[in-house]
Amino acid sequence: MGTDYDDPAQVEAYDTRHAQFRDIDAECSETLDRLGVTPQSALIEMGTGTGTLAIHAARRCATVYAIDVSRQMLEFARQKAVGAGLGNIVFCHGGFLTYDHAYGPVDAMATGMAFHHLPDFWKGIALRRMNNMLKLGGQLYINDVIFEDTNVAANISRWITHLAEIGGTKLGDEVATHVREEYSTFDWIMDGLLTRAGFKIQSKEILEGVIGKYLCVKESEAAQPSPAAYPDRRANASSGSA
Ligand SMILES: C[S@@+](CC[C@H](N)C(=O)[O-])C[C@H]1O[C@@H](n2cnc3c(N)ncnc32)[C@H](O)[C@@H]1O
Repeated sequence: MGTDYDDPAQVEAYDTRHAQFRDIDAECSETLDRLGVTPQSALIEMGTGTGTLAIHAARRCATVYAIDVSRQMLEFARQKAVGAGLGNIVFCHGGFLTYDHAYGPVDAMATGMAFHHLPDFWKGIALRRMNNMLKLGGQLYINDVIFEDTNVAANISRWITHLAEIGGTKLGDEVATHVREEYSTFDWIMDGLLTRAGFKIQSKEILEGVIGKYLCVKESEAAQPSPAAYPDRRANASSGSA
């Protein structure tokens, strides 16, 4: 939905485009500080994209598993990691609903601007899967477009206007497309999905009513639903795996 992350032109332009409206290095530092990672930590990043967070994390952790459904994104990220001289990132093709973590449970998980690709029902399934990849007491950080319920229309409208002022009409249109076609949800839905998947919300901020930052701890094991219990989305997919 929305942007096609298998399009080489989109991948190539991604970092420059996002630098127009995000301070990505600051976001990465904030994510890793909040997660309290150490040189012994193992971290999974879901939806790594061009790998900027994975690269920051690899400088502060023992091992990073960087996951994405887009092979183009993964290859771009892999090249960036090679360029940065980092050998402790394991790049894996997979998605929130398909990635099988074949290693031990990790200390920390992070996802930035990727979780909104899943509709809410599938977010709930994904969170249970993510819970199963974490150690008990391990932490999850989510940074994504998430809407506060109060003044939602005004907040979205202000956000679109603001980004159009910074990056021009094209960026404003892209944000409008995000709202229209992707699955960013209300914070109260995220709260419920997280707690039902065995997480305790340690802190939550919704910047300007539209950018959510959740720090959660795995408080209990989530029941792992058998994949066979759900219709296989891949059966009808033209490419990729969610
Ligand atoms: C907007 S980019 C975010 C990239 C990076 N995390 C960031 O903060 O800039 C969204 C990424 O999520 C990936 N993605 C989309 N659906 C996914 C899924 N179901 N599972 C994992 N990654 C997914 C896309 O391929 C893309 O690389």
